[in-house]
Amino acid sequence: MRRLVTEPEDLYLLLDSLLREPKLFWNGFYSDRKKDIPFFSNVPDENLVDYIDCGIFKPGRVLELGCGPGRNAIYLAKKGYVVDAVDLSRETINWAIERAKIEQVDINFNCQNIFELNFQEGSYDIVYDSGCFHHIAPHRRISYIQLVKKALKTGGYFAITCFAPNSEYGGSTISDIEVYRTQSLKGGLGYDEEKLRAIFKDFEEIEIRQMKESDQSVLGLAGFMTAIFQKR
Ligand SMILES: C[S@@+](CC[C@H](N)C(=O)[O-])C[C@H]1O[C@@H](n2cnc3c(N)ncnc32)[C@H](O)[C@@H]1O
Repeated sequence: MRRLVTEPEDLYLLLDSLLREPKLFWNGFYSDRKKDIPFFSNVPDENLVDYIDCGIFKPGRVLELGCGPGRNAIYLAKKGYVVDAVDLSRETINWAIERAKIEQVDINFNCQNIFELNFQEGSYDIVYDSGCFHHIAPHRRISYIQLVKKALKTGGYFAITCFAPNSEYGGSTISDIEVYRTQSLKGGLGYDEEKLRAIFKDFEEIEIRQMKESDQSVLGLAGFMTAIFQKR
């Protein structure tokens, strides 16, 4: 029987089914580790380093959403944070585990869809996302915001790095309705300051800015936006 929509989650699952199956795509994406992809290098985001250096982030519990091969999780663990890092791709979680072993850091890597996570409310001081949110479909923003709110303690921080609109790396500017009409996120959606502010309006805005182009010791690409918010 086709799914009968009676709850919001039924509708979300129905809309999910119109779009690309993410696990298959991302496992294929990570099957060649030698590809020239900026985030394949094992260095942290420039904004993440900045949050720690300027003292906004202080060691505590972190939930990383869509952690990929683990570069930011590894950096945080080295700085004394307790990290739960989640990604739905088994390929990338295996890679992250290998990297963490080489770097001799202890991280709880979890191969799971972020929307199926189970944790106690208010467990985390920080939720971090680099490059996952822009691959999330418009209807799932609702689940995403609920997830971040549930994960964070009051006063906890949520920080995000995502495609700026029409950047050289991606950042489609199609409307939400076009996503469903064309059944595609066109490689990832672009977010400017105004959209990020509107989506995360329930949080206190700390900073929204363009990512700073950086040298190779950190990952900084001007085609990305970074934002940090605090749970009220
Ligand atoms: C562009 S990559 C970024 C990886 C990593 N954060 C980094 O910057 O190195 C986006 C990641 O999000 C993951 N992802 C996308 N949707 C997800 C979901 N619903 N649940 C868990 N992971 C997801 C993908 O598997 C992929 O590894």
